[in-house]
Amino acid sequence: MKKITIAIDGFSSTGKSTIAKQLAKELSYVYVDSGAMYRAVTLYAMQHNFISSSFFDIEGLVTSLDLIVLTFKYNSAVGFAEVYLNGMNVEKEIRTLEVSNLVSKVAEISEVRKSLVQQQQNMGLNKGVVMDGRDIGTVVFPNAELKLFMNASATTRAQRRYDELIERGDKVTFDEILKNVEYRDFIDSTREDSPLVMAEDAIAIDNSNLTLEAQFEKIYALVLQKL
Ligand code: C5P
Repeated sequence: MKKITIAIDGFSSTGKSTIAKQLAKELSYVYVDSGAMYRAVTLYAMQHNFISSSFFDIEGLVTSLDLIVLTFKYNSAVGFAEVYLNGMNVEKEIRTLEVSNLVSKVAEISEVRKSLVQQQQNMGLNKGVVMDGRDIGTVVFPNAELKLFMNASATTRAQRRYDELIERGDKVTFDEILKNVEYRDFIDSTREDSPLVMAEDAIAIDNSNLTLEAQFEKIYALVLQKL
């Protein structure tokens, strides 16, 4: 069967990765979480004291980009590929609120974007890929056969994120999560390089009131039209 590229963009915590993983499983495609790559670079910057809540040594990070090796390895126990930073599985470390609070600053840097976009395009060379992020349909794969743009209300999104973090055992409040979601949306959609915008040929999906099953059915029908 013909293989296509599926680009899923949208605001923070709109359930992009949930639908992307479901589609990749159903179609036996590769799933790539591009946000995990920006998060892993942020974790590296934190570990090497290039960034904190009060300073950002952009030059230090940019000159170290060649030392940051990101890889994905499929973990059958969870059913998707987890991200590795210089050989270490960092899937858990990159999801903390601390990383969430700094990642959009790192993602504004053009050199960081250039390096990650190149790696993302390489991962999609053979098609058969579902990638989610902010600039996948506009910059990474402008020729993707199917582009989706996900949205949901800020409170619905913050609630989902909050539930996820609480389930992991993190000590966070709903208010700080809501603030983080709104803050990232603002930076992501107003930055100069590759701001979060809906591609002209993307299909908008608001899933505030959709069950996961209903969302999957709706989107899978769109995929079938492209195969
Ligand atoms: O998808 P996730 O919320 O994990 O992404 C974390 C952050 O990484 C986003 O808020 C955004 O700043 C950045 N990002 C990006 N471009 C992408 C994916 C993520 O700028 N393609």
